[in-house]
Amino acid sequence: MNQLKNDRYLRALQCLPVDYTPIWMMRQAGRYLPEYRQLRAKAGDFMTMCQTPELACEATLQPLQRFDLDAAIIFSDILTIPDAMGLGLYFETGEGPKFKKTISCLNDITQLPVPDPEESLTYVMDAIRLTKQELDGKVPLIGFSGSPWTLATYMVEGGSSRTFTKIKKMLYCEPKALHLLLEKLANSVALYLNAQIAAGAQSIMIFDTWGGALSHQSYRSFSLHYMQLIISQLKRGKKSQNITSYIPVTLFTKGGGLWLDAISNSGSDAIGVDWTVDLNQIDQKGNIAIQGNLDPAILYANQETIASNVESVLAEFGHYNGHIFNLGHGIHQDIPIEHVQYLVDAVHKQSKRFHP
Ligand code: CP3
Repeated sequence: MNQLKNDRYLRALQCLPVDYTPIWMMRQAGRYLPEYRQLRAKAGDFMTMCQTPELACEATLQPLQRFDLDAAIIFSDILTIPDAMGLGLYFETGEGPKFKKTISCLNDITQLPVPDPEESLTYVMDAIRLTKQELDGKVPLIGFSGSPWTLATYMVEGGSSRTFTKIKKMLYCEPKALHLLLEKLANSVALYLNAQIAAGAQSIMIFDTWGGALSHQSYRSFSLHYMQLIISQLKRGKKSQNITSYIPVTLFTKGGGLWLDAISNSGSDAIGVDWTVDLNQIDQKGNIAIQGNLDPAILYANQETIASNVESVLAEFGHYNGHIFNLGHGIHQDIPIEHVQYLVDAVHKQSKRFHP
């Protein structure tokens, strides 16, 4: 196996010393890049890109060719799992993801299969294997999945939602049915992530994009519990001198600021936090790494504003070895690329003094 040329991201995930703060960006491969728009136009649609390993590999590598990022994330989508369960994922321009079939009752749930990732999601594993080869140890490759709760919101609502009416109705009126769905999803995601690890993913991130829509009383039982169930099934290896022998896991609950303690005790190695979180609230004893948390909208501003906001994040966390710089959510599609260039270089330059 190839040696890693840049292991800062994996070191930070294990709270080990680094020479500067590593950075990658959620949605770093995407529409703000002109070369992505070109590739996407050539492919025709987004799912074709995900399902063609050569195209997914090219999209994964695009941001790394431009910026000095410390990690790559495989180009795919969280909704590949419900698609593999037979719901028929499609994207309508300007409207986001949609499903041909939705889940509305216990009967729909009992009929859902737990997909074998080596059969129905081979395209993701092929993309990981190819990308790993092409990366040639430049930076680590992140594999990912959605959280059971977040996936369930799309499956029950039939797409994106602002109010989560249908899934909340299920939560309060048919909690047993929803628990069964979440358990099936947790088992499917665990198989899927283990297949990604076997294919070469060097770290795992779980996106709980809609965990923050849950009430304080239900977050733990309807979201965190199922992420823990996944983590407990992952084949993460063992920590050793060889940094790549262990596969760290990051949990990102958007809007999860209220539950940082519970997330820290979930068995994950790192917590992803959005821009509403005060990083000083977090235990900095070296038990858990922190990923975040610049407001992505700051990237609309000029260099001076970007530099001072980078400085604010670093003032809270620059000295902590377990910090991975990231945005608090995905990058917006109309951000000027020069600003991204500036951000990545500013994080590297401004963080050096915290790591003598
Ligand atoms: O981060 C990366 O660079 C890796 C790729 C990645 C994508 N989606 C590519 C993508 C990742 C990690 C995701 C995760 C994802 N997908 C999440 C969780 C992260 C988050 O943003 O909170 C969610 C909720 C989804 C579901 C989804 N897929 C949405 C809401 C959309 C946007 C639809 C739209 O038209 O804006 C997608 C499509 C999607 N996934 C795009 C990309 C680059 C845009 C597709 C395009 O080219 O039109």
